Amino acid sequence: MSEQREHFGSRMGFILAAAGSAVGIGNLVGFPVNAAKNGGGAFLLMYAIFVIVICLPVMIAEMAVGRKAAKNPVGAYSVLSENDSKWRLAGLLSIITPFMIAVFYTVLTVWIFVYLVLSVTGNLDYIASAAALGDVISSPYLFLSMIVVAALVRFILVSGVKDGIEKTAKIMMPALFVMLILLVIFVLTLDNAMAGVEYYLIPDLDKITPKVVSNALSQAFFSLSLGMGILITYGSYISKDTDIAGSAKLVAITDTSVAFIAGLMVLPAIFSFNPSVNPGELSDSGVSLIFSYLPKIFLALQSTVGYFFASAIASIFFLLVFFAAITSLVSIIEVPVSYLMDEKKQTRKKALNTMFLWAGLLALLTTLSAGMVDFLTSLTSYGGKSKSLFDLITDMFYDTILPLNGLLICLFVSYRWKSQKLNEELSKGNPNFSKTFLAKYTNFALATFIPIVVGVIFIDTVARTYFGYNFFG
Ligand code: ALA
Repeated sequence: MSEQREHFGSRMGFILAAAGSAVGIGNLVGFPVNAAKNGGGAFLLMYAIFVIVICLPVMIAEMAVGRKAAKNPVGAYSVLSENDSKWRLAGLLSIITPFMIAVFYTVLTVWIFVYLVLSVTGNLDYIASAAALGDVISSPYLFLSMIVVAALVRFILVSGVKDGIEKTAKIMMPALFVMLILLVIFVLTLDNAMAGVEYYLIPDLDKITPKVVSNALSQAFFSLSLGMGILITYGSYISKDTDIAGSAKLVAITDTSVAFIAGLMVLPAIFSFNPSVNPGELSDSGVSLIFSYLPKIFLALQSTVGYFFASAIASIFFLLVFFAAITSLVSIIEVPVSYLMDEKKQTRKKALNTMFLWAGLLALLTTLSAGMVDFLTSLTSYGGKSKSLFDLITDMFYDTILPLNGLLICLFVSYRWKSQKLNEELSKGNPNFSKTFLAKYTNFALATFIPIVVGVIFIDTVARTYFGYNFFG
């Protein structure tokens, strides 16, 4: 079985693909909004600590489990637990999670695509208008755009791991870096940009509340693509001579750097547009930042650089976010696809068709829940708020489930598969690994405080989101 399994062509290809998965809407939009609202540099510092102390060991564990089993998450949990049905269920949760994330991620990617098309075709003044977002999210053109996005993702995935996922990452990731750097350089030359840099980099520790801490961890999990079965699946495609710990470090550094640089682009842009802005008052949602606020900033640039150049800047921004979204969406969809191929013995093409049928249907309903159909728009209510289907899926599969999946992988690796086997796997490609500080730290942390921290955050999120109850005041 493992001889026939597809593989990445090189270590660099794997790192770019994993970084492509990690760098997404979460970095370019979620991180700057969270940083802006929650104490700037203080949030950044706390986020960086979480990435090193909690996320890196979890990332290493997921990749090692995937490579050892050479299977999708269900197969991996089953094989390594010697067919224990309880652990198979944990694997199943790691398939359902990306399936549901694919649903809301597709909806967001389609919106981004529509904004990209509108910027490129000279409609910047329209997307900067107050009515645009409402019009776009209830426009029939969305369905056409969804077909285009689905066709692109299918085109990439049908070519497989090396010729599809890896090749796309090798093209889109460098392009993404170049666009990001160009935009940052441009934004930093705008009047008053330095006020934004200052706000972003000077920590305000008073803003760090337990809720912010919990949000930072969920954000770090989402951003690094942890708890979604992705790194187990991508791990199953890497060769035995790849140094997993070293690769994981590079993926974490890339992802965090992109999030950091995205903050350097967004915050100074906001301050330059409105020098007296209080970023703490920005809307809670990244959606309103990217689709309502940023287009206004781009349009305001026309007074200095002209309408054509302002539209070009907006187009580069939306293309950048679109590339980031596509490389992430591809990785999210690959997880259930690999499950269908391994466990249900479907061909890649058939698995993709199955996946697109079901995820497509749900994505359609989720699109309708952003205002087009009342029943789906006010589907339910909890925590004292009315919730749409879109809200329900994001609350469950962005905020809540990821720390739970993180808890399960820690318990699995430490108490079922066992640390010694983890070390053996990590020593392939890095023979001295078990003597390193990172090895000792990873073993200790996965078995002790990481499951406690992610467990507490899971319980706190459930209490806060669904029952409106705050443990920490
Ligand atoms: N890790 C991806 C993101 O940040 C899913 O958007």
